[in-house]
Amino acid sequence: MVADGARHVVLVGMMGTGKTTVGRHVAALLGRPFFDSDEVVAQRADRSVREIFEQDGEPAFRRLESAVMAELLGGSQPSVIAGGGGAVLDEGTRVRLARSADVVWLRASPRLLAGRLARGGDHRPLLDGHDEDVAAVLADLGNRRDPIYESVADHIVDIDDRGPQRMAQAVVEVVS
Ligand code: S3P
Repeated sequence: MVADGARHVVLVGMMGTGKTTVGRHVAALLGRPFFDSDEVVAQRADRSVREIFEQDGEPAFRRLESAVMAELLGGSQPSVIAGGGGAVLDEGTRVRLARSADVVWLRASPRLLAGRLARGGDHRPLLDGHDEDVAAVLADLGNRRDPIYESVADHIVDIDDRGPQRMAQAVVEVVS
């Protein structure tokens, strides 16, 4: 576990909020290593997120995701971590976040996210087949997940179209 006062910074929030891009900038600004949970899951499994979903199903992906979050949050060097959109669904992850991280919820309206996610994305099988109603799918997911994001968040940064660099500066301000 990291020592108090040097907690990991973890970005949570829906797909399309820019957790990975913003997180990389935050890590550069803070001079810390950066990890993206989806990337680490894919490395550990030696398969893409999509392949894991398709071959083993979502519950298997969630188990891998929880294990990776535990590994990353257990790291002794304070880092910046972008969690997959559903990482907070796991209770163990929520407990570890409370123990070891400064959690920033990147919050965005379903409308803004729908514009960004119109073409889904290779690691987002939850959006497959929803090109026409992606906003409705995101609104539904958001209704279920926003209370969870809120419950784990130490800080909230509202996403707008200012660009990742400015968003990263906003994150650094709230965690400093
Ligand atoms: C998911 C979000 C994705 C990825 C997977 C499931 C989710 O990550 O983990 O497709 O349940 O919201 P991003 O939030 O990085 O897109």
